[in-house]
Amino acid sequence: MKVQKLRGFLDLIADEASLHSHIRQTVKEAAQNFGCAEIILPVMESSKLFKRCLGDTSDIVTKEMFVIPSKSDKEDDMVLRPEGTAGVVRAFIENGLTKNIPAKFYYEGPNFRYERPQKGRYRQFWQSGVEFLGVDSPLADAEVIALGWQVMQKLGIDEHVQIQLNSLGDEESRNNYRSALVSYFSSHMDKLTEVSKVRLEKNPLRILDSKEEGEQEIIKNAPKMQDYYNKTSKEWFLSVQNYLNSMNVPFVINSQIVRGLDYYNHTSFEFVTEKLGSQGTVLGGGRYDGLVKMLGGADVSGVGFGAGIERIALLCEALNKHVDTKPPVVIIAIGEECELKAASITSELRYNGIYAEQLYSGNMKKKMQRANKMGAKYALILGDDEYKNNKILLKDLDETQQIELNIGDVVQHLKTL
Ligand code: HAM
Repeated sequence: MKVQKLRGFLDLIADEASLHSHIRQTVKEAAQNFGCAEIILPVMESSKLFKRCLGDTSDIVTKEMFVIPSKSDKEDDMVLRPEGTAGVVRAFIENGLTKNIPAKFYYEGPNFRYERPQKGRYRQFWQSGVEFLGVDSPLADAEVIALGWQVMQKLGIDEHVQIQLNSLGDEESRNNYRSALVSYFSSHMDKLTEVSKVRLEKNPLRILDSKEEGEQEIIKNAPKMQDYYNKTSKEWFLSVQNYLNSMNVPFVINSQIVRGLDYYNHTSFEFVTEKLGSQGTVLGGGRYDGLVKMLGGADVSGVGFGAGIERIALLCEALNKHVDTKPPVVIIAIGEECELKAASITSELRYNGIYAEQLYSGNMKKKMQRANKMGAKYALILGDDEYKNNKILLKDLDETQQIELNIGDVVQHLKTL
């Protein structure tokens, strides 16, 4: 019986894996320049954590969590993390870091959601993310967005990504808006699906997220969030926009960005591309001021994002942005004694940061063919005559030139090339 990988899971091999780590490295370097410390957290957390953080009506909690039942009555069920923010906030409280604010974190790792797999939507996917905690200024919201934007720029994909920005307002504005939505949708009960009726009771904002064809008309005419912002919310939103303009970060306002998770308020945003069809959101995030308190910590604010690494990789591939792998220096030795000497030279080159490959088998002709096939720029050739004189040949494979070097000078010489 042939065993295959699970549906919605990916094998990333060689170039695909290089691109994946290049993207993560790009986020990491950008995050370090914004002062983020790395945080490495468990892949599993208690199911309580996500139920509390993400909201009872979120898609993740209602149908997408990979739950592993606990083996003991005394312990909560375990969940493969569906996202990173909840774990960061849990760790922040549990490790007593609330006294050390502002605190900025960077993380990366796999997440798991039991979704219907398709291009750009997987059951295991990686996120690189940042969370800024204890940052009570719209500057922080703008910085988080600017950080994501720098990643897009560094990867050379910014021309095909649009930042869509919205504000969900503060608690007071949201409560007012919520009441307006409840009375509006209650008067259109007959047009709501069963799912929306449940949302109407638990979280009416999420009705706006509905993709149901039959509901689009009433959603279009629903009250608009911007009409319910109080003064603080209005000023906050405007200030985020001013900071973004000052940092030259382009954005458009899209009042539909309500996000699928419950913890957001004020700023919410998505980075969207048209190149990936329906799974075009490559990064999403926002502000979540009540979350730390809700999980039993102090009243500490937060804002952050999660970047979908596989989606960004798909976009890079669509735009032909690949990671250049350096070509090797190939070492060709003929005869047992020369092979032994070549092994030590190869090892020394590698230790000095030069990608070197000693070819394992074949005669001179076969080895030269192999070197060309590997795309090598240089071949070092060690035959009996050279070896006797402590020399080695260096051949430039593009130019068909060759020179003779002292074996002891090889590393130094190649470093200068
Ligand atoms: P999210 O919007 O659920 O937010 O996910 C962030 C990003 O992860 C998405 O924009 C998308 O690129 C990627 N993603 C999500 N689900 C999948 C999937 N099934 N397959 C492939 N990629 C996927 C969060 O997770 C929040 N924790 C972000 C955040 C951080 N907000 C504040 N801080």
